[in-house]
Amino acid sequence: MSKPIRVGVVGVGRGQSFAAGATEAVGMQLVALCDTAEARLAEAGKQWGVATYTDYERFLEHDMDAVVLANYFHQHAPLAIRALDADKHVMSETTAAKTLAECAALCRTVERSGRTYMFAENYPYSVAGQELRRLYQAGEVGPVRYAEGEYNHPGEERWRLAISPGLNHWRNWMPCTYYCSHALAPLMCITDEMPARVNALAISEEASQSPNTVKVADAGSVILIRTVGGAVFRLWGLTMGSIHRVRYELHGERGMIATAEPDHWSTIRRHAEEWMRRPGEPNDITYRPDWPEHGDLARASGHGGGDFWTSFHFANAIRAGGQPYLDVYRGAAMSAVGILAWRSCLADGAPQAVPDFRDEEARKAVEADHWSPFPEDAAPGQPPPSIRGLIQPGAEAVAHAREVWGAHGHTRA
Ligand SMILES: NC(=O)c1ccc[n+]([C@@H]2O[C@H](COP(=O)([O-])OP(=O)(O)OC[C@H]3O[C@@H](n4cnc5c(N)ncnc54)[C@H](O)[C@@H]3O)[C@@H](O)[C@H]2O)c1
Repeated sequence: MSKPIRVGVVGVGRGQSFAAGATEAVGMQLVALCDTAEARLAEAGKQWGVATYTDYERFLEHDMDAVVLANYFHQHAPLAIRALDADKHVMSETTAAKTLAECAALCRTVERSGRTYMFAENYPYSVAGQELRRLYQAGEVGPVRYAEGEYNHPGEERWRLAISPGLNHWRNWMPCTYYCSHALAPLMCITDEMPARVNALAISEEASQSPNTVKVADAGSVILIRTVGGAVFRLWGLTMGSIHRVRYELHGERGMIATAEPDHWSTIRRHAEEWMRRPGEPNDITYRPDWPEHGDLARASGHGGGDFWTSFHFANAIRAGGQPYLDVYRGAAMSAVGILAWRSCLADGAPQAVPDFRDEEARKAVEADHWSPFPEDAAPGQPPPSIRGLIQPGAEAVAHAREVWGAHGHTRA
């Protein structure tokens, strides 16, 4: 392989998975880290032996080719735009943008800069997700008519608090539809479908809520999507206390393909009723596929191999001088689904049209749409983060949260 691609990573929480992924195997080399939390950054800098920066502008002056954004969930677009303008390739964690205006601005900047932009959705790249894509693209079930994507990640309360340090931390505040990409991205990547309209209903935390919580958002949602090709996708989940689940199921006119128990990252089920089967084809099989290539490298990485493949595809797109499959338009579409599903939740399920961000006319129509539920954007007319409105956590809950944050070294939270 030619000269390695020199990468800098922003955010040393999740960002350390990307630091670990910048390897010789994908032709990348980690050269710098950036984080505003000094102690956390110093520790990571020592571990990786690279330059560290608390200031993003100074970090961008470092001699490097690409930037990976793993800062706060809803603050990626402005940093992505700055990096692209500074001539860096960008890979951004989810979500790509927190408003429709940011989606439009991000797409324009990628086009203007000519740099590579990748939306770092790792869930489509599990071995199960890739096998479903192979089956679907081979026409095994015909065009998709209906599909389900589920991502639900509950957690014990002290653990949840420890990873959400601060009353305004994004994990305490983010409306339940915004983190929809783990449920949606695999369905889009298997079928090549794009979202056209969404309806959604939020599921309130109220009934199961611990009196100790400082979370002001809801537990989860159901999002219905009508795709450009006319199919219906149903997404479910987020942090409901019922079951940890990552699951995908696709129905066509010639059967069903799905991820399956015991491990939805790597097990597949394929079903066809008797009259649909081709001669010799089994009517119901469950199997564990393998990667066609790089299986050992993928298995050694996180999220069912997805963490290896995002770096792999980002590096390949940079070397080819183009855009990866998970380009800015797919990233913007998934972000827009999260935003518009929240609008739908607050309007009791009313349908919302999803812009096609490839189209400059569609971008113009939303370029001034700064609708945002996040606390730094608070202003008259901005929406609340919960269907219950703007909740104030109780004094006892705040004191308890501060005690947990202090125990984890988050003294300023
Ligand atoms: N794809 C996945 O499987 C997966 C898993 C975990 C997290 N994530 C995503 O990764 C991102 C980060 O998640 P996390 O759990 O590490 O969050 P986190 O809130 O724990 O950490 C974010 C880090 O970014 C730093 N930061 C914030 N603003 C900054 C700025 N302007 N400049 C420099 N540093 C800044 C913070 O100090 C913090 O250390 C989120 O977008 C999240 O959705 C994705």
